[in-house]
Amino acid sequence: MQWSEMRLVLTGASGGLGQAIALSLAGQGCSLMLVGRSEEKLEALKAKLPRTQDQEHWVVACDITQPESRDSLACVAAAQGINGLINLAGSNQFVTFENQQDDAIAELVQTNLTATLQLTRRFLPLLKQQPESLVVNVGSILGSIGFPGYATYCATKFALRGFSEALARELSDTAVQVLYFAPRAARTSLNTDAVMAMNAQLGSAVDSAETVAEALLAAIAARQPQTYLGWPEKLFVRVNAIAPGLVSRSLAKQLPIIKQFLN
Ligand SMILES: NC(=O)c1ccc[n+]([C@@H]2O[C@H](COP(=O)([O-])OP(=O)(O)OC[C@H]3O[C@@H](n4cnc5c(N)ncnc54)[C@H](OP(=O)(O)O)[C@@H]3O)[C@@H](O)[C@H]2O)c1
Repeated sequence: MQWSEMRLVLTGASGGLGQAIALSLAGQGCSLMLVGRSEEKLEALKAKLPRTQDQEHWVVACDITQPESRDSLACVAAAQGINGLINLAGSNQFVTFENQQDDAIAELVQTNLTATLQLTRRFLPLLKQQPESLVVNVGSILGSIGFPGYATYCATKFALRGFSEALARELSDTAVQVLYFAPRAARTSLNTDAVMAMNAQLGSAVDSAETVAEALLAAIAARQPQTYLGWPEKLFVRVNAIAPGLVSRSLAKQLPIIKQFLN
């Protein structure tokens, strides 16, 4: 499938990464269905997207945690011959687990995990009708490395990684390809000032949204099953899988700094 043949639903399109990804994909010739809760933000983005005469872009304002919204999004997508779903919508909260409220835990799990899985399931029949189609799940480096202050976020992204692996294997005899794409920290409003200050003090690299978008396009072009962004983060993912004690010791040394920014 060439870029110009791709007709992709992009959830989280109105966010920091979503806007950069939408601009890059549209620049390659893809047609995009932009999804988020704010119609105004999505329309403003749509107005900025490059568009040739072969391209179309659509706006669907909806909350993916609502079953009826997922149903109507799937119906609109089916009518437009959508052949890809990029699950980018998500949120996080940097907080000690003890201080995280029950409703915040439920909301994070609902958005990052449950609704994302349910939306994917809702889309599968229509993706299977296409000669070739894609599901791209945007996880995080924190979907492979448990990090203080992100217990619930890590739980959702670890789960999304497992989901992606299992689903890719379940669909390996179909024309639906499932990719898992894990950025490290990026400069968007998802990260509070406290998180940005902590990253600076820890010396952790922070990517621009454009860098993440470029890497996502490369992952799609190569149909790379799993992508982990950044060096040394991709090495830490491997070390954490083989010898988690090493990473635990290193994070234990950083914990006093991390705690200065946690509440
Ligand atoms: N930024 C990073 O450092 C980083 C690193 C690794 C992974 N990621 C992942 O990348 C994704 C995007 O992050 P970002 O930095 O672009 O965040 P962002 O700027 O906060 O954008 C989040 C996007 O998700 C949408 N969204 C949230 N809840 C939704 C819901 N219930 N229904 C529909 N849309 C919803 C938001 O739309 P509205 O609010 O307009 O409705 C917005 O478009 C997330 O999954 C995040 O976990 C980010």
